Amino acid sequence: MQLISDLLDVQKLELGQLKMKKENTDIRATADRSIQTLQPQIEEDGITIINEVASIVAPHDSDRITQVLTNLIRNSLKAVKPGTGKIRIYSEDSPAELKIIISDNGIGIPYDKQSKLFTKFYQADASLTREKGGSGLGLSICKGIVEAHGGKISLQSTPDSGTTVTFSLPKSDHRGAV
Ligand SMILES: Nc1ncnc2c1ncn2[C@@H]1O[C@H](COP(=O)(O)OP(=O)(O)OP(=O)(O)O)[C@@H](O)[C@H]1O
Ligand SMILES: [Mg+2]
Repeated sequence: MQLISDLLDVQKLELGQLKMKKENTDIRATADRSIQTLQPQIEEDGITIINEVASIVAPHDSDRITQVLTNLIRNSLKAVKPGTGKIRIYSEDSPAELKIIISDNGIGIPYDKQSKLFTKFYQADASLTREKGGSGLGLSICKGIVEAHGGKISLQSTPDSGTTVTFSLPKSDHRGAV
C-alpha cells in the first residue's frame, strides 16, 4: 500500500537511512521512465505532457529520482483540468548543477499556504484532497531524496494560473572529498 511505503520512506529519510545508489546516468532516461509510468492516466485525462529534459549524464539514483518526478507529475495531474491541462518538464544545465523543472497550468496554491507544503502531511487544498486523495507526504519525500543527493527543491505558484517546482542535482559529489 502506497501510504505505508511513503511513511517508511519519510521515516528512513529523517533518520538518514535511505541510501542513494548514485550512478552516472542520463537524466533524460530517468525523466522518460517517470512519464511512462503515468502515461495511462495522462492519456485518460487528455493532458499534454512536454518532456524537454536534456540528455545529460549526472550522478543520481535513477529509481529515487523517478520517485521524485512521478510524485511531482502526479501533483500536477491532480491540479490541472482534463482536456486543457499542460505539464512541461525541462532542464537547465550549468557547470556545477543540473536543474529539473516541472511546470503546470493547474489551479495553483494560495500564497499563504506555499511555505508549508514540504512539511509532511500538509495539504493546501482540502477539497482537492477529498476528490483526488493523497496523504501529504509526496513533497516531503521529494525534499528528502533531493537533499540526500546534495540538491535543493523549491516551489513557485500563482493561484488560478499554475505551479512550478524546481530541483537541483549537483554535477559532482563533493561529500566525502578531502
Ligand atoms: N502542482 C501542484 N498544483 C497545485 N497544488 C499542489 C501542487 N503540488 C502540490 N500541491 C499542494 O501541495 C500539497 C502537498 O503535496 P504533497 O505531494 O506533499 O501531498 P499530496 O499530493 O496531497 O499527497 P501524496 O503526495 O502523499 O499522495 C497538495 O495536497 C496540494 O495541495
Ligand atoms: Mg503528492
